[in-house]
Formats: sequence, structure tokens, C-alpha cells
Amino acid sequence: MQAELAAQPAAPLPSPGAVAPAPMRQAWADLGLVALITVATFAVGAALEFSEWIAAHSKTYEAYQLDELPLALAAMLLGLTWYSWRRHRHASREMGLRLRTQAVLVENERHYRMLFTEDLSANMLADADGVVSLANPEAARLLGLPSAEAAVGQRIGDFYADRELWRAHLAALAGGGKLEPPVLTLRRADGKERRVIAKLTVRRDAAGISQVHAFFTDITALEQAQAQLAKTLAENRQLIQRSIQVQEDERRNIARELHDEMGQWLNALKLDAVSIRDRADGEIKAAAQSIVDVTNHVYEVARNLMRRLRPVALDELGLPSALQYLVDQWQRRHPTVKCTFSTDGSLEDLGEVANITLYRFVQECLTNVAKHAEAGEVRIALRRVDGTGEVELAVSDDGRGFEPRRATLGMGLLGLRERIEVLGGAFTLEAGTGRGVSVRGLLPA
Ligand SMILES: Nc1ncnc2c1ncn2[C@@H]1O[C@H](COP(=O)(O)OP(=O)(O)OP(=O)(O)O)[C@@H](O)[C@H]1O
Ligand SMILES: [Mg+2]
Repeated sequence: MQAELAAQPAAPLPSPGAVAPAPMRQAWADLGLVALITVATFAVGAALEFSEWIAAHSKTYEAYQLDELPLALAAMLLGLTWYSWRRHRHASREMGLRLRTQAVLVENERHYRMLFTEDLSANMLADADGVVSLANPEAARLLGLPSAEAAVGQRIGDFYADRELWRAHLAALAGGGKLEPPVLTLRRADGKERRVIAKLTVRRDAAGISQVHAFFTDITALEQAQAQLAKTLAENRQLIQRSIQVQEDERRNIARELHDEMGQWLNALKLDAVSIRDRADGEIKAAAQSIVDVTNHVYEVARNLMRRLRPVALDELGLPSALQYLVDQWQRRHPTVKCTFSTDGSLEDLGEVANITLYRFVQECLTNVAKHAEAGEVRIALRRVDGTGEVELAVSDDGRGFEPRRATLGMGLLGLRERIEVLGGAFTLEAGTGRGVSVRGLLPA
């Protein structure tokens, strides 16, 4: 019967209008009957001289004032009429109140029925052994049953992939209360498995019998999407790591080409120009000297380019010294900004990838300070975290800052985040208008 409740619409209950007072026609008919009885009584009384007969017979009992009785009876009649009118009015009010309450109950019941049947979670009511007595359509869908009625009589435990777990749940619920186990697996009627989050509660009904309420939410699709997303993210990371590697290799190649090819040719050009200068006079000597100067300049430009492309100091001197060199160079170009660099702990053995990542980190942050910050001071701190062995790099300035939620990050900061995260590290950016910018990267040991 309860299963029907889950599947069928509510049985119509009488509305307040349906139990309305008797129609006017009925009331007039009743009044007519009263008038008829009165007239008939009068006619019979007149024909039989009823009052005279009573007066004659009651004369002997005049001492008891029986002749006053009709008036008293008439008063009693009026009193009873008033009494019944009052009771009728009271009953009508009571009836109206009940009908209104019933209407509210019917409406509430309709709401709850809708919430129950349309719920996206599978809802079931079962006895203390887990035998289902009421289920909603989503429960049938989850369990692979044709309808909510088909779920009635089934055992919830039969759908647990791990029966032991169901027994453990029942045991845990024996004392009453609520159970919210971690994600569990249900096996549908067709044998397919569904991953669900569950909530189980026990309640005693009016007769003191325990009832189990089971709520299951199907998260199979969500879990699959999550797994797919994690896989895509991991593949993406691999791809980024690969592209960073390719980029660094390419930079190194270009730097080497610049050094080996252009450096050689510039050097040869310079030597030739020097030899002409040393042997010539006048205008030719001046022109040769000019070629030497231009060659020196081009060589200096190429050297700077090479350093940017591949920080040789990084390979030769290690990270702390390469960073110190980078900071010194930057400081020379930006004398108005006070730039401090500090290191703490052993930082010589970080490996090539970590080295280049941290170097590019500082390079980009210093470029940003020069481009955007208008800062008076910038602090760079590189340290080995005690205990964990992680490496932390923080670059902070006291410039005009920016609102990170409103700003669209350029390739610089996004690239830094990617470089740090593909190595399994954590990137944090703290900034605010007028509060400077602090960028932090934490690489695992
Ligand atoms: N130190 C800083 N002080 C103030 N604003 C900054 C600072 N660093 C970054 N920003 C702000 O954050 C934005 C994003 O920086 P990001 O380095 O990602 O890009 P970009 O420097 O504009 O361009 P790109 O680095 O790609 O050449 C900048 O445009 C700037 O508005
Ligand atoms: Mg930038």
C-alpha cells in the first residue's frame, strides 16, 4: 500500500466547499414542515378543543398552577431553539477549521510526495532487516529495477557489493542514530556497479518498531568525470613539462650557435679590422677603428642575448651564484630600486630542472618589478626549508601592486605557476593595490 503511495497521485479529499451547509431549498422545505406541523397542531387542537379539555381537567389542580405550564413550555421551546442554534454555529466553526487544516495537510502531503518522488537521490524506507517498504522512482533507477513498486520487498543489503559492509552498517545502526559512511559500491539488479554516497538513519515509529531510512546519491558519473579530469590534467602537465624542456634546449642551442658561429665570425672580423687599423693611416685607420668598435658592440649585445637565453653561470657556478649575478646585473640597470638577495641552507644540489625553474622565476619577477611595480625595494629570498627539505623562493616588492582577481595574468606569472606546478610544487601570489606583490614558489625536496 505504501508502494502505491510512491507511484500514484494523491487520492482526492473533500474540499471545504464540498461539505457546505444545506442548500437554501432544503432550509425552506424544513421551515415549511415546521409551519405545517404548527398549522396541523392548531387545526387538531381547534377541532378537539384540546386547550379547553386541558383547562377543564386541570381546574381541579389549580393549586399547582398547571395552567401556567404552556407559557413555561413555550419559553423552554425558545430556549432549546437558541441552544441548538448555538451548538450548530459552534459545530459549523469546528467543521470549517477542520476542513482548512485538512486542506493544509493535503497540500503539505502533496509537496512532500513531490519532493520524495522527484528527488534526485534514491530514498528508501525499510524495516529493521533492511526489507524495503517504500521507495521513490530514483531508487528503482539506481538499483536497476523497473519501478518503485518493484523495489518493495527487496533487501537493501542484497544490493551492497560488499555484504559484510551492510551487516556492519546494520549493527552500527542497531542502537539508533545516523550513519554517513564513505563512498560505497552498490550492485544493481543487472550486475552493474554504481558508486554512491549514502546516509542511513534509524527511526522508531509510533508502535516502537525500528525503520531504516536509506538515502543514496549516485556519483558514478561524477567519479568517472573526476578520474578523466585528473588523467587529462596529468597529461597536460607532462605536455607542459615537455614543452618547457624543449624550450630550454632550444634556447641553449641558439645560445651555443650564437657563441660558436657569430662569436667566431665577429672575432675574425675584429682581428681583420685591427690588422688594417694597425697598418693604415688617416681615414682608413679611422674606418677600421670604427669597425672594431661596432664589432665590440655587436659582440656585447650577442653576449647579453646569450646570457638571457642560457645563463652560463648557472651551469658553471650553481644557482645561488647565478642568481647573485642576475641580481647584480639587474641592480646596475635599476639603481633607484634597492634589491636584496639572501640564501639559507644548502642549495647547490637541486638538479638542472629545478635550477633553471628557479632562475627563470627570479628573472620574470625582476622583469615584472621593472615593468609594473614602481617599487623602492625588492627582496629575493631562497632557502631550504628545515625538516622537509623543500626549496622556497620568495620575491616581494613594495610597489603599487595590483588586484589579482581583476587583473588578467600575462604569460609571465602563468608560466611561472605552470613551471612550479609541473614539478609538483606550489605557487602563491599575494598582491593588492598599494600593497606590493609577493610571489612564492615551493618546490618539493
Ligand atoms: N611586481 C608587480 N607589481 C605590480 N603589478 C604587477 C607585478 N607583477 C605583475 N603585475 C601585474 O600582473 C600582470 C600580469 O603579469 P605577467 O608577468 O603575468 O604579465 P606581463 O608582465 O604583463 O606580461 P609578460 O610577462 O607576458 O611579458 C601585469 O600586467 C601587471 O599588471
Ligand atoms: Mg611579466
